[in-house]
Amino acid sequence: MLKDLASLIIKHTAPSRRHLTPELVLRLITPACPLWRAKEEDIPFKDPFWAFYWPGGQATARYILDNGEMVKNRRVLDIGCGCGAGTIAAVKMGARRVLANDIDPYAVAATSLNAKINDVSVETSMEDLIGSNCTEFDTILIGDMFYDEEFANILFDWLQRLRGEGKTILIGDPGRHGLTEKRRQHIELIAKYPLPPESCIENHGFTETSLWRLK
Ligand SMILES: C[S@@+](CC[C@H](N)C(=O)[O-])C[C@H]1O[C@@H](n2cnc3c(N)ncnc32)[C@H](O)[C@@H]1O
Repeated sequence: MLKDLASLIIKHTAPSRRHLTPELVLRLITPACPLWRAKEEDIPFKDPFWAFYWPGGQATARYILDNGEMVKNRRVLDIGCGCGAGTIAAVKMGARRVLANDIDPYAVAATSLNAKINDVSVETSMEDLIGSNCTEFDTILIGDMFYDEEFANILFDWLQRLRGEGKTILIGDPGRHGLTEKRRQHIELIAKYPLPPESCIENHGFTETSLWRLK
C-alpha cells in the first residue's frame, strides 16, 4: 500500500531545497506543481499536511542539524512527522533510534520516500501514540502541532507528563495560537530562525520560526 501512495506523492510533488534545511531535499507541493493552484475538489489528498514543510518542522530540523549532540545516541520519537524532515535530521546526526510517527498514511509514505532520497532509512509507525508512555524513547520532537486549540490541550498535558518522567521535549513552532501565553511559561526558547521568503508564501505570513524546549 505504501508503494501506491509513494507513486501518487511522486506524481503530485517536486523535489525542493527552498527551505531552512537546504541540505535535505524534500518532495513537497511547490509553486511548480499543478496542485499548488488546484481547486480543493481536484486535490486527490485530504489535508495533505505532509506535502508542506511547516515552519515548526523547519526549526526542529535546522536545530538538530546544527546541534547534533541534542540527538546523538538518543532514542527519538518524531510525533506528526509530516514530510519527515525532523526524523531525517535526527538519523543523519547519529540518533540511536528514530521512530517517525504520523496517523496519516501519506505522511508515513512521504517520510519513507524523503528518507530514501536523502540516503537514510527510517522506521515508521501510524499508531496514535498521543497519551502513551513512550517508554522506549528519551527525546520527543513536535514540529508545528499547536495549530488547533482542542488538540493543543491534549498534546501539551501529555508532553508535560512525559517531561515529568525525564524526557527531552523539543517543540518547533512559529507562534501558533495553541502555544498560549500560559503554556509559554513552561517552555524555554532555544533558537529562532528567519524563514526564507519563498517558504513564507505557504506559511500564512510567518517570517520567523523557533525551537522551544519544555522546562
Ligand atoms: C502541521 S503538520 C506538521 C508536520 C511536520 N511535523 C512539519 O512540521 O512539517 C501536523 C502533522 O501532525 C499529524 N498528526 C495529527 N494528529 C496526529 C496524531 N494524533 N498523532 C500523530 N500525528 C498526528 C498530521 O497528520 C500532520 O502530518
